[in-house]
Amino acid sequence: MSKPVIFNNTVLRDGHQSLAATRMTTAQMLPALEALDSLGFGCIETWGGATIDAGLRFLKEFPFDRLDAIRAKTKTKHMMLLRGQNIVQYAHFPDDIVESFITTSAKHGMDIFRIFDALNDPRNMGTAIKAAKAAGKEAQGVICYTTSPVHTTEAFVKLGQELEEMGCGSLCLKDMAGLVPPRQAYDIIKGLKDTVKIPIVLHTHETAGLGASTYYAGIEAGVDYVDTSIIPFANGTGQPDTARMLALLERHPRCPKYDLDALQFLREHFTKVYAELSDFTSFANERVDSDALKYQVPGGMLSNFRNQLKEQKMEDKFEDVFKEIPVVRKALGWIPLVTPTSQIVGVQAMLNVKFGRWKNFSPQATDIALGYYGRTPAPVDPEVQKIAAQKSGKDPITVRPADLKEPGMDKLRSELKAKDFPTNDEHCVVHAMFPQELEVYYKSKDQPAAAPAPKPQAPAPAKTGPAETVELSDSARQYNISVQGKSFAVSVEEV
Ligand code: CO
Repeated sequence: MSKPVIFNNTVLRDGHQSLAATRMTTAQMLPALEALDSLGFGCIETWGGATIDAGLRFLKEFPFDRLDAIRAKTKTKHMMLLRGQNIVQYAHFPDDIVESFITTSAKHGMDIFRIFDALNDPRNMGTAIKAAKAAGKEAQGVICYTTSPVHTTEAFVKLGQELEEMGCGSLCLKDMAGLVPPRQAYDIIKGLKDTVKIPIVLHTHETAGLGASTYYAGIEAGVDYVDTSIIPFANGTGQPDTARMLALLERHPRCPKYDLDALQFLREHFTKVYAELSDFTSFANERVDSDALKYQVPGGMLSNFRNQLKEQKMEDKFEDVFKEIPVVRKALGWIPLVTPTSQIVGVQAMLNVKFGRWKNFSPQATDIALGYYGRTPAPVDPEVQKIAAQKSGKDPITVRPADLKEPGMDKLRSELKAKDFPTNDEHCVVHAMFPQELEVYYKSKDQPAAAPAPKPQAPAPAKTGPAETVELSDSARQYNISVQGKSFAVSVEEV
């Protein structure tokens, strides 16, 4: 058990997604690559999550260009976060689009696909796992951590076993909200190590102040990898800082060796970048705050929610809405709170408090209740499912949701052709997920005056907490609010 633990580095993805609204540009990454590459990290997380959306939308970068630029200067393995059948969006895509995305990303040098599903439904990860393996790359199966009566240590271990059987080359216990207490992490990691043969990664956030201790406990339990970042894109709502983790592990038999001079160089470089991104950083994200533990929700959900309740003139209902969250989660089969389910549960809790319990359903909550997002960890409350079916006129399903999707690549190609855009697979998969953004990208690219776009207009999202919630607030957030039986689509942007 004295094999040193290996650090993965997240500064190029989760680090700036958690602490700077995903605004780091490729140009800001390039000077760090030689040092990052020299350190011997297990992998560097370079892509996925919100980086593809934010890069295209705010930085005017074509997603695959970043991957190429980083690949050209690094030999370390690249890792990306992929939302299973959602790829990097919020809804299910047909299998052929998921497969093309993975094949194409593999061709551009992606090595490890970290694949999760918001419901922990392995069927929503199967296509991605197979495609990654078929491309000769590593499929890393994710266990999303959450708390509920059905999320026992045994249930997490069983999911890990299932993912190994599906062909995953490694597993990741993903604690997107930084909620897993050290002893619980120890138990799950120990259970997995006793049961599965593939390597295990532990991923958490320092949001509530548990992150580094949780890693320590995971390392004691035999975890193979932990994710760390580089300060100042570390700690707070991000991953623990690499040098800090080294200090914490001093004299531990599993303490790894990483070049402190190279880490110091990176710290200095990223401190400059952090200052350049000051419009997107905030004290609220940097500090450690155990408030998230009280409500057992991602920290970002708390800050987003305070804003939304204000807009709805429901500030005085904060405690009521938060008490409603477990009620909604229980009715919807104890779904984890991660993108996009954290937002869906939050909106439904708000609707329940505002209009009375289950008087109004958001379309997304309806779809969860009826199985259109996949199999929930526990059965959906049959009464609630019945009301959702009646109100929506839709039938519940039990099949894998993507089985109902027609192949989509041909259609995407002809749409691109009609627009006179390139029709290769790279453009097809980007067009599938971000059609408007791709169009805006091409329009602004043709206008020489609009070239240096990265500087934002207004000090925007100085807000949210952990990574997975920042994702949604980066984009204009869409909510469907139903008032007296009429449905309204509402976009919310933070000021
Ligand atoms: Co994360």
